[in-house]
Amino acid sequence: MRPIFLVGFMGSGKTTVGKHLAQKLGLTFCDLDQFIEEKQEKSIPEIFAEAGEDAFRIAERNALKEVAIRTDCVISTGGGTPCFFDNMALMNASGTTIYLNTSIKELVHRLHYKGNKRPLLQGKDENQLHDYIAQALLKREAFYNQAQIKILADDTNATINRLTMIL
Ligand code: S3P
Repeated sequence: MRPIFLVGFMGSGKTTVGKHLAQKLGLTFCDLDQFIEEKQEKSIPEIFAEAGEDAFRIAERNALKEVAIRTDCVISTGGGTPCFFDNMALMNASGTTIYLNTSIKELVHRLHYKGNKRPLLQGKDENQLHDYIAQALLKREAFYNQAQIKILADDTNATINRLTMIL
């Protein structure tokens, strides 16, 4: 079976949903950020700080190409993965793509209250976080919406159950 790719904004639940989904479907789970961190032996914040975002996007693209040829797995991608190079087309051609569509309100709540180590969100208070997410989503949704399956994902448990039934 070809891979299942989860796409969506930071905090949309890709990792949590991906782990549960993989377990329920008897597939392996792969987190693209973790794959990059293990390959580079550096954390994502370290890669951003030392090499910059452009270098991170190239590493992300290369990592995506490597994992896209795997079988029987659920892959959670980074929030920006679909929005660079032709990554979304690559994922659509390689397997099943699912957009976890989470509301701005829920994203702000999750990213603000649960804390974060995400370089793109560093130093933002709740209002700044809201504005950043709203603006970034405007640009990013055009990519996320190219996914083959789109699912409202404010309720993580319901999302896992619905996806388990669909897939
Ligand atoms: C990013 C999202 C992060 C990570 C990096 C950049 C983005 O992944 O890849 O910090 O551009 O939205 P998560 O969506 O897993 O937080």
